[in-house]
Amino acid sequence: MKKIAVLVGGGGTNLQALIDADLSKNIAIVISNKPDAYALERAKEAKIKTAVITDQSELLAILEQNKVDLIVLAGYMRILSGEILRKYEKRIINIHPSLIPSFCGAGFYGLKVHQAALKAGVKVTGATVHYVSEVVDGGEIIAQKVVEVKEGDTPETLQKRVMEEAEWVLLPGVVKSLIKE
Ligand code: GRF
Repeated sequence: MKKIAVLVGGGGTNLQALIDADLSKNIAIVISNKPDAYALERAKEAKIKTAVITDQSELLAILEQNKVDLIVLAGYMRILSGEILRKYEKRIINIHPSLIPSFCGAGFYGLKVHQAALKAGVKVTGATVHYVSEVVDGGEIIAQKVVEVKEGDTPETLQKRVMEEAEWVLLPGVVKSLIKE
């Protein structure tokens, strides 16, 4: 059975989507760079092992100790370093809350992504799951899901719709197909 590490740093709703899609048996460890991330509570609730790292240099050893096959970035706000990217080439994925190449790259995270989408006046947005490379949000696209922008949307309402209709559906689907390979 393929083993997954989920790297988190925030509320962990995408981690929850993986747990709810019956993937907790595959999640060997949830790793956070923030000790107070609510995602850690969700992992504990699902009886999944957790680790908090204070420095990125700790990451590789933890991944190797846990014999991780696939790394899922789900709200992890740090850029991964060269060695991890080389060792886990095509085995690290990230979820981004827009249709890449729109509203992505440095500075586009959280509500800022949805603010930019509303400012641009796009009629559709969505989420993207992509492989992680040295270019922020620039690795090969694996899957995307479109979400409608509605009249009167605020960054908050748009973020919520993108999560519910795209992120929480897309990520478990991609993870399931990748661990089958
Ligand atoms: C999500 O919007 C995800 O697309 C982005 O970070 C956010 C994480 O949210 N990469 P959560 O911690 O999964 O709730």
